[in-house]
Amino acid sequence: METVVSGIRSTGNLHLGNYFGALKNFVKMQYEHNCFFFIADYHSLTTHPTPSDLHNNVRQVLVEYLASGLNPEASTLYIQSNVPETTELYLLLNMNAYIGELERCTSFKEKIRNQNENINAGLLTYPVLMAADVIIHKGTKVPVGKDQEQHLEMMRTFANRFNRMYNVDYFPEPFAFNFGEQLIKIPGLDGSTKMSKSDSENSAIFLSDEPETIRKKVMKAITDAGPTIPNQDKPQAVENIFNLMKVLSSVETYAHFDELYNNCRIRYGDMKKQLAEDAIKFTGPFREKIKEISSDNEYLRKVVKIGTDKARESASKTISEVREIIGFKTF
Ligand code: TYM
Repeated sequence: METVVSGIRSTGNLHLGNYFGALKNFVKMQYEHNCFFFIADYHSLTTHPTPSDLHNNVRQVLVEYLASGLNPEASTLYIQSNVPETTELYLLLNMNAYIGELERCTSFKEKIRNQNENINAGLLTYPVLMAADVIIHKGTKVPVGKDQEQHLEMMRTFANRFNRMYNVDYFPEPFAFNFGEQLIKIPGLDGSTKMSKSDSENSAIFLSDEPETIRKKVMKAITDAGPTIPNQDKPQAVENIFNLMKVLSSVETYAHFDELYNNCRIRYGDMKKQLAEDAIKFTGPFREKIKEISSDNEYLRKVVKIGTDKARESASKTISEVREIIGFKTF
């Protein structure tokens, strides 16, 4: 049995990228491993520092985790800020994280470009907090999407460096996990290679979207004038629609439209209509569950309480061992 740890930032509703990149694998693993899944609300402060949004965003992600099939009895489901041991480990790991390596991190460089009015130290040390999140439970498997590959590499660096510095074999190395398959990157509807909630309002299909919203978004998805030469390469935006179809529609449906494309007979309108209906069908069960769970405050409170207790039990064991390794002693 391995220890599985992963999380999602609480910056709004969950989209299909979050689901296929991280959640789906976690849901599949929860009955076979020791699993921790959390809501990264501290991480959300690096980009979304508005107090009035914080609680509702955390609540929404919690509801959507549960609606996606996370079982709070089988796995440990918790909120990052409820486990102060993680922040202590974050502080300790920061002492052995170098500015140079943090500045070279791709996600930090991206943030410098896109959020240059607020380049805070939390963004710089973002991968250190991620490492603390995982190694506080001695996690070895981390279900994430392709965009997190470099962060996983940094987790291994910090875990190994701790072991080397204190001459111990304490933290195991965490690895990204997707059942032996390549890590996934779900594309956006707006031509971008990664579905994301922040890129544009129409890039992402959310698990909670109503059918009419999905139809509108999909019909607006970017395509082109259509192929003119048989079997020609697909431009990025068109490739995106096909890739979405690959995860949402049947093999036959995908093959049907691929053949039409290759014969230059494709009508994108027809393809998008089909994709929208398949997306509606796929998200249907989530939509219903989200509504059902969302109104049940008592249940949510219970879930958070159980999760906090289980997560703190695991985290406090690690932190007291870490303190001892580093040399903190009681008087
Ligand atoms: P976040 O909130 O950006 O994304 C959460 C998870 O969803 C995956 N993901 C995608 N996968 C495939 N295609 C997409 N278009 C797509 N968009 C998002 C991400 O890869 C991620 O797995 N830093 C993390 C949260 C975090 C974390 C951790 C994850 C904090 N601590 C420790 C793992 C372990 C993040 O920002 O994810």
